[in-house]
Amino acid sequence: MSVDQKLGQLVQAAGGRSKSLNSRLTDAELDRVRAGKVGSYLHVAGAEALGELQRVAVEESEHGIPLLFAMDVVHGYRTIFPVPIAIASSFDPSAWEEAARISADEATSAGLHWTFAPMVDIARDARWGRIVEGAGSDPYLSSVMAAAQVRGYQGASLGEPHTMLATAKHLGAYGAATGGRDYGSADLSERTLHEVYLPSFYAAEEAGVGSFMTAFNDIGGQPVTGTEALVDGILRDQWDFDGLVVSDWNAIAELLNHGVAETRGEAAVLALQAGVDMDMTSGVFETDLKAILDGNPALTADLDRAVGHILSVKERLGLFDQPFAYHDAGREEASLLTEENRAAARDIAARSMVLLKNESQTLPLSDPAGDILVIGTLADDHLTQLGSWRARGEAGDVISILDGLTDAAPDGVTVSYEPGGNIQTADEDAVDAAVQAAETAGNVILVIGEDYDLSGEARSRSSVELPAGQKALADAVLAARPDAVVLLVTGRAMAIPDIAETADTILLTWMLGVEAGPAVADVVYGARAPAGRLPVDFPRATGQLPLTYSETPSGRPANPDLSVDSNRYMDLPITPQFAFGHGLTYSTFSYGQPQLSKSAVGPQEAFSISVDITNTSDRDGEDVVQLYMRDPVSRTSRPKKELRGFKRVAIPAGQSVTVTFTLSPAQSATYDDDGSWLIEAGRLDFMIGPSSDSTSGQVTVEVTEAAETRVPAAAIETEVSVQ
Ligand code: NOJ
Repeated sequence: MSVDQKLGQLVQAAGGRSKSLNSRLTDAELDRVRAGKVGSYLHVAGAEALGELQRVAVEESEHGIPLLFAMDVVHGYRTIFPVPIAIASSFDPSAWEEAARISADEATSAGLHWTFAPMVDIARDARWGRIVEGAGSDPYLSSVMAAAQVRGYQGASLGEPHTMLATAKHLGAYGAATGGRDYGSADLSERTLHEVYLPSFYAAEEAGVGSFMTAFNDIGGQPVTGTEALVDGILRDQWDFDGLVVSDWNAIAELLNHGVAETRGEAAVLALQAGVDMDMTSGVFETDLKAILDGNPALTADLDRAVGHILSVKERLGLFDQPFAYHDAGREEASLLTEENRAAARDIAARSMVLLKNESQTLPLSDPAGDILVIGTLADDHLTQLGSWRARGEAGDVISILDGLTDAAPDGVTVSYEPGGNIQTADEDAVDAAVQAAETAGNVILVIGEDYDLSGEARSRSSVELPAGQKALADAVLAARPDAVVLLVTGRAMAIPDIAETADTILLTWMLGVEAGPAVADVVYGARAPAGRLPVDFPRATGQLPLTYSETPSGRPANPDLSVDSNRYMDLPITPQFAFGHGLTYSTFSYGQPQLSKSAVGPQEAFSISVDITNTSDRDGEDVVQLYMRDPVSRTSRPKKELRGFKRVAIPAGQSVTVTFTLSPAQSATYDDDGSWLIEAGRLDFMIGPSSDSTSGQVTVEVTEAAETRVPAAAIETEVSVQ
């Protein structure tokens, strides 16, 4: 290949913007393809349109190399599933695997080979709008969910035209942006980077993810996209990754804004040397690299490496053998938004909801006394249910919460509706009308929260409290009807202290996709029980952020006594409003004393912890059994609790199951240096329970000697069996 042809492979061009796909595929663009100046397109779709583009590349370019077509298929293609933070709340990796599998099937039918998902960024600061796109705050949960998505998108073989190349993004610590401001700088220790922010990337790599995307941000002054230690150093040197690394949108050119390059050429060199193979849209590899390559053999080797990675991915996808395998318009027509896919979306949506409070057992409303009044503009907001990445999802495909509740209302029960005003600003007349109707209604369902436009990329907020219009509505309605069932629609963890105090019943629905309404109706009327759990702590106030149950202990632990200097606020408890792992259901469970298989183990020796759980209610139900670890004495201060296993398990009424977790001491290893991890000798405590703030029955294992490993501890998946 000529240098120009090689550089062309490194170029990813936009076929449109994310909401105007294909709009840039003009005749001039086809000429670029003929000239071999493009290796990949993003924001494109359609079996036929992309088939024609592929034909030009394969038949009319000199080298005949096929193009790679990409899109952000993040939680669905046409059948939109719940937003990722919601699916993570299912605490059920099979739900994610299924959603990803269906998304890949639909997207590949429309000519796509590559998705920019899973997003595996850890988010502990809910001000960050992109918290909606990931699995929340916990490295273990995120790792399990990352691997499940890779399995779902990529299937058993990438060469099969129903599977697509996945991307673990955005390497790394993008979610640690200071103040939660998107694209902002992250400043964190090596330990936190490796122990908290990177394990989910490693888990994706272990699951075979074919590509990584570098993040926009800098870590301690080093913009990731231009820093060899953070890209090649981690991915290729420490983890032996041999797939494709793509930059984020325009991120290479933005190295100039970061102030680490003076010219586009310098930016291109930094990124290429860092290990970035493909340039998403900034064009610097296309326009500025050639002149610098002359007489620079080291850089030419970097170029060859990048081209090699891109061509191998095309090969893995089978594009050289069958470049048109993804362009069957008949298959596209038959694959999108099928009844089967909608049914899966409904099931996954039901699994994603979290029952935060149900003090008077108001839910389920299986036999409501009187009619139902639904209040809140979000109840009738179709677009919001599609979340922030909607690929080819259409508002018209969505069954709203209001329609779902109306269609499935029990016989003889009428459902009426009051919008109650806007999201952002209070509308007194609308609020008054809602309150008046609420005063006489048999049952009130109050749907409040944030719309789709308040979370997602570049959608950070300085406050995670309810927007003013929603707060005014909630306060007024709950003053009149504290028995109202509150449905919280949101893409982030929110601070809702007043509602948490006043309302009897709060169901967190997140944003649930095309089948939002039927799924909400399933849960509200009791055909399904909610059993999701929080993948992130819900704060009492924005000022508590960032927040995680998994913090290290203070030398002066919190003490509510104001005369004692301690690790607390003067004006607020330091505990979350709702803790990580919290979630109720329509059944109740009791836990037995955990049993250990051995009390002392060598550093490579597996051991098990078993616990009996009994459904103490008269309703079949599901519990999410959670295993937490604590290393009480270590060379560094360790988190108070770390999730190390979980199982969503169905338990029939009155019956018991035994859940067994099989672990290894490597799951307690702490980051040492240069990719090595230390398993320390000494005690490890384990606690089991239905939530991070409700664990009991501590058992202790003694690790008899120290050892080294190279695997991030939180990325090691615990084996779980149920009897
Ligand atoms: C920017 C986003 O950060 C990234 O997640 C996405 O994949 C690209 N744009 C492409 O849309």
